[in-house]
Amino acid sequence: MDLDYIFRRRSIRKFNDEPLSDLQIKSILEAAMAAPSAHNNKPWHFIVIRERKTLDRIAEVHPYGKMLFQAPLAVAVCGDTAVSSKRWDQDCAAATENILLALPELGLGGVWLGYYPRSNDEDFLKDIISVPENIKVFSMVAIGHPDEEKIPRSQYEDIKIHFEQW
Ligand SMILES: Cc1cc2nc3c(=O)[nH]c(=O)nc-3n(C[C@H](O)[C@H](O)[C@H](O)COP(=O)(O)O)c2cc1C
Repeated sequence: MDLDYIFRRRSIRKFNDEPLSDLQIKSILEAAMAAPSAHNNKPWHFIVIRERKTLDRIAEVHPYGKMLFQAPLAVAVCGDTAVSSKRWDQDCAAATENILLALPELGLGGVWLGYYPRSNDEDFLKDIISVPENIKVFSMVAIGHPDEEKIPRSQYEDIKIHFEQW
């Protein structure tokens, strides 16, 4: 069994200047939308951010997002709470992971930037990427051509496994 495509997903935070092709961007979004979704509601929307000014503004305000100063692209994974009020966040998490799993196959790397949940007064992306009222930003993924190497690994631990009962 070859699970290497899973083990090759590592958080990449250093990128070179090469921009992504339209095909790479389309493939990333196709991977995202192939994720499982409760009742198959697919409440997700994706904001593709390529403008340097916008990426820099987000890097300035996201406490753990400084790699966006270097990344050529970010995808904000958003959920429509009118489409799925209860499970939109779980669907967005699945879509986020699908994006990350696709990146090494496309010669790319990236990292999950947490965003949801936060209180309204902390909603620092609202003005930068103009998200409507019923739409919530769940996560961002910083993406680019890797300028660092990380070894694939499984992190398997026997101690975390319980059979039949805890
Ligand atoms: C919900 C979530 C939020 C995360 N937020 C950030 C973040 O804001 N900034 C960052 O650099 N990494 C973030 N990460 C990446 C983790 O730090 C990373 O997955 C972890 O250290 C394990 O390393 P690996 O991804 O290479 O396996 C986040 C990961 C998850 C799942």
